[in-house]
Amino acid sequence: MKNSQKLIILATLLVGVAIIGFTTFKFTQPTQSITKTSGKALVGGDFTLINQDGKTVTNKDFEGKYMLIYFGYSFCPDVCPTELQVMTGALEQLGDDAKTIQPVFISVDPDRDTPAVMKEYVANFYPGMIGLTGSKKQVAAAAKVYRVYFSKVEEKGADPDAYAVDHSSIIYLMGPKGEFVKHFSYGTDPAKLAKGIKAATKG
Ligand code: NI
Repeated sequence: MKNSQKLIILATLLVGVAIIGFTTFKFTQPTQSITKTSGKALVGGDFTLINQDGKTVTNKDFEGKYMLIYFGYSFCPDVCPTELQVMTGALEQLGDDAKTIQPVFISVDPDRDTPAVMKEYVANFYPGMIGLTGSKKQVAAAAKVYRVYFSKVEEKGADPDAYAVDHSSIIYLMGPKGEFVKHFSYGTDPAKLAKGIKAATKG
């Protein structure tokens, strides 16, 4: 197993622990009001990014819809395209039930993932999938609120433009007010993802 894979797994486990911590808190504090717990989730929050048309968008622009979010980068050789295919497959299986769900791909590689690159890339997947990038600072801030780990891999002697970026691989389902609903680990298949989304968004 490569170091990068170990890091991805470790980062995924850490986010899992954070999410479990939040869920436990919710279940053990049933009398807490909703206002007290909303915004206290360890995953999700404010972000300002740039969409594939070059327009600045924030988390507020997505309110009213569920968001299915995945962080990665368009030059990713296998993990990102696989996961975006899984998201696409699940949304296709959901059919009309997918209308309330906005798939979003957020880049952790803003140097290469310009809005134009993102536009071309997301077009390979689900129609209407939004690709978000931004300045290094904006991207780092978005990754931070979603507890996403990423790190540029610098290899000596390698082409400086052909670098890889290690990153955690988790699909997040966020609610219509931007609240964390559910996460899906790396390796979830489209049918299971579709079932999980359906269960979480119909109730
Ligand atoms: Ni990737």
